[in-house]
Amino acid sequence: MTSKLSFGICSCLLGLTHFLSAVQGAGYLQIRFNRYTNHDGRVEDGSLCDPFGATYVGDNCDPVFRLRVNKGGGGGGNLHDYQQPGVYDNQNTIDFGSKFGSVPNPVPIAMNFPNPGHAYVKVDVVDKDTFPPDDPMSKFTASLPLIADNVRRDMELISPARHHRLSITHWFTCYTNFYGQDCNTYCVAQNDDVNGHYTCDSNGRRVCMIGFTGTLCNEDIDECLMSSPCSNESTCVNTIGNFKCMCPPGFEGRLCDEDINECSESPPKCRNGGNCTNTVGSFRCTCPTGLTGRHCEEDIDECKLAAPPCRNNGSCQNSFGGFSCRCGPAFRGRRCEIRAEASVGSPTGAPWKLAVIIVSAVLGTAIIAVIIALVVYQRRNSSRGTASNEDKESRFDNEAYES
Ligand SMILES: *[C@@H]1O[C@H](CO)[C@@H](O)[C@H](O)[C@H]1NC(C)=O
Ligand SMILES: *[C@@H]1O[C@H](CO)[C@@H](O)[C@H](O)[C@H]1NC(C)=O
Ligand SMILES: *[C@@H]1O[C@H](CO)[C@@H](O)[C@H](O)[C@H]1NC(C)=O
Repeated sequence: MTSKLSFGICSCLLGLTHFLSAVQGAGYLQIRFNRYTNHDGRVEDGSLCDPFGATYVGDNCDPVFRLRVNKGGGGGGNLHDYQQPGVYDNQNTIDFGSKFGSVPNPVPIAMNFPNPGHAYVKVDVVDKDTFPPDDPMSKFTASLPLIADNVRRDMELISPARHHRLSITHWFTCYTNFYGQDCNTYCVAQNDDVNGHYTCDSNGRRVCMIGFTGTLCNEDIDECLMSSPCSNESTCVNTIGNFKCMCPPGFEGRLCDEDINECSESPPKCRNGGNCTNTVGSFRCTCPTGLTGRHCEEDIDECKLAAPPCRNNGSCQNSFGGFSCRCGPAFRGRRCEIRAEASVGSPTGAPWKLAVIIVSAVLGTAIIAVIIALVVYQRRNSSRGTASNEDKESRFDNEAYES
């Protein structure tokens, strides 16, 4: 009476693990009914199912099924008793499909006790008739091992009297939170400081979460005490169930094993047009001429260098990123490196000489032109024969020849 009651409640409240842990276990025997065949259309005593039919055609039996399951050995308590309410009309072969009689197929049978061992299964089939009355037709029995190993086992049962056949598939599954082949190992995953931090493996053994140890998995592991998981000289800090790495500059990541690319950071690491090169844990700036410092932020005072840039007593003036030279009167150039006198001699000498040549050439040509003009003029005047003109001309000639 009480076992039946608890069995019923258990089927309904499968999720209530406290209750299940109190009853210590087990699970479901699942039986799937595949096919029943009555090859000869006869009942157990050898007579035809329908002796008054005109001709025996092989589909004259009307099977009705009763399924009983007992605790192993057959003498044990009754666990399941199902009587089909209807009838399979005129069917000597039945492929059950998703229903066994009126109930879903496979049929689950609760084994609500530890170490169930075996289940004894009885299937009685009768030929349902109004006249003649119901006749026993087939009887099947089997002892099914209850091993929760996820294996589906096929079985072909044969009735002793007429060798009718019943093919079934059976398997055994544990209730939720029960493990092991006998389904009597109880384990519920926990994740709190009172009950521990663990999951359950397929055998119901506790598997501590990372960072915990002990039978209840509630003792913290100090990861920093062992070889520290933190790399690149970061500092390991233990926490409950975990640890932290405090990264030095230039590194990031849970274990500080990732290099930070400083060159892609904003604002840029290298200022004033310096170029950035990433290095492991750091960066390097290539600075423009005249600048220095880690970020190219520092001016180089060229005037104070061991070799100052201004030559020939030029005075040096530093500026940000550069310098200038103020040269004495005799020197020129960015560094006063050019001598001023040297510049008058050779580069401008040539045009000067060229001017002299051009001027002399022009003058010479002009003189020759004047002489030719005078000669021509004199010849014209002498052919006219005017005295005054002659006087003038000769005087002019004299002057011209004198000069
Ligand atoms: C330090 O960090 C670099 C990544 O930037 C990584 O390649 C290296 O493995 C780390 N060092 C150690 C000891 O883990
Ligand atoms: C920076 O890199 C660019 C491109 O390669 C180059 O033109 C420039 O001269 C570099 N500047 C410095 C200061 O090296
Ligand atoms: C630079 O100045 C020094 C002293 O003032 C002088 O002796 C020297 O001749 C000068 N040099 C030049 C190249 O002018």
